[in-house]
Amino acid sequence: MSTPGYRVWAVPGLPEVRAGDDVAKLIAATEPGLVDGDVVLVTSKIVSKAEGRTLAAEDREAAIDAETVRVVARRGPLRIVENRQGLVMAAAGVDASNTPAGTVLLLPEDPDASARAIRTGLRDALGVDVGVLVTDTFGRPWRNGLTDVAIGAAGVRVLDDLRGGTDAHGNPLSATVVATADELAAAGDLVKGKAADLPVAVVRGLPQAVRDAADDSAGDDTGARALVRVAADDMFRLGTSEAVREAVTQRRTVRAFTDEPVDPGAVRRAVAAAVTAPAPHHTTPWRFVLLESAGSRTRLLDAMRDRWIADLRADGKSEESIAKRVRRGDVLRNAPYLVVPCLVMDGSHTYGDARRDAAEREMFVVATGAGIQNFLVALAGERLGSAWISSTMFCREVVREVLELPDSWDPMGAVAVGRAAEEPRTRPARVVDDFVEVR
Ligand SMILES: Cc1cc2nc3c(=O)[nH]c(=O)nc-3n(C[C@H](O)[C@H](O)[C@H](O)COP(=O)(O)O)c2cc1C
Repeated sequence: MSTPGYRVWAVPGLPEVRAGDDVAKLIAATEPGLVDGDVVLVTSKIVSKAEGRTLAAEDREAAIDAETVRVVARRGPLRIVENRQGLVMAAAGVDASNTPAGTVLLLPEDPDASARAIRTGLRDALGVDVGVLVTDTFGRPWRNGLTDVAIGAAGVRVLDDLRGGTDAHGNPLSATVVATADELAAAGDLVKGKAADLPVAVVRGLPQAVRDAADDSAGDDTGARALVRVAADDMFRLGTSEAVREAVTQRRTVRAFTDEPVDPGAVRRAVAAAVTAPAPHHTTPWRFVLLESAGSRTRLLDAMRDRWIADLRADGKSEESIAKRVRRGDVLRNAPYLVVPCLVMDGSHTYGDARRDAAEREMFVVATGAGIQNFLVALAGERLGSAWISSTMFCREVVREVLELPDSWDPMGAVAVGRAAEEPRTRPARVVDDFVEVR
């Protein structure tokens, strides 16, 4: 067996590409000496130019807007977005380099279709079966420097799935899917270069990366689309600031839970986030009672129900109306995990007059609310739904007795926690101006 290796070279002699040009014909005219099994790497810029994707530069921001389907991260004028081709990249791939002053270039409308057309064109012109990649230059999270990746592909096995095989030591490969098309694109970039005006390269010696014509008829040539991670598998959908902002809005009241048990570690991580909330004069007014056994939950809920029924009877409600109300209060009972957040006034000041003592109490109440909100947001970050229910506030002494809490702990409701059994109903965005007064 010969030592593995391949050759990569740039294709010289291409003219400046203009709108309406046939890229395959231009490549063929350079007499590139292609043979079956070669991979031809074509810089997206010349494909865009040939496809007439040039715009007046006054429109750059508008062009980025038009190419954007989702903002992933924004810092100052820099936008990382998902564009209409499904690619996550800076400025949606709208490019102002290597184009005439006053113009910008959009990516090809459908880079896989562009790659297919070039592949077919080369077969027609030169009688060869080659793979074609349309490449573009990307920055990468976590890594400095840019590299070329494949944004369009035809006739290339873009991913090489090694899962199920073994490595040289016989260890099973359970996660290894090689991004062959990106590796090829990067190899081409080494010889194409940005300034050298060599927008096309050829890789020879890796025929296993190229699909043969027989494969084509199977109709399963996925193109470079297959290199884009789908949302469900993407652990990093948003930039950091965007994720923080979105985390707050992800918290919605969940009133129906699955039976899946709640990870007590996740709840403790949420408590750790809760106790970073702001609080008056260096106090820590938060306590969280975690009801981790079914027995403790049932004991509390039964005792609270008895007190509630007694309150309703004292209000003069009929037995029928009491039964109906009590049935409605099942959110806590149907949750797999309950938390009773409590307020403690440790460290509070006593002024001795009603106005200031009431203000002091309010400070502690709002600070407790801030802690509970932190808790709920952090739970949402753990993909746990929650409902903050008021009931324990209405029967504090019952709660203290059943849960054996000190008299100084004031229960501030109860939080039902669990995996949401249904998506919260969407609600129209609230209009900022309805909530602010500017002075
Ligand atoms: C202090 C407090 C007490 C609440 N008590 C109840 C309650 O007793 N029952 C209930 O179903 N929801 C209760 N909620 C949840 C609100 O109904 C809920 O936050 C509101 O409908 C807005 O929906 P969202 O949380 O999905 O944004 C309470 C919320 C707070 C902050």
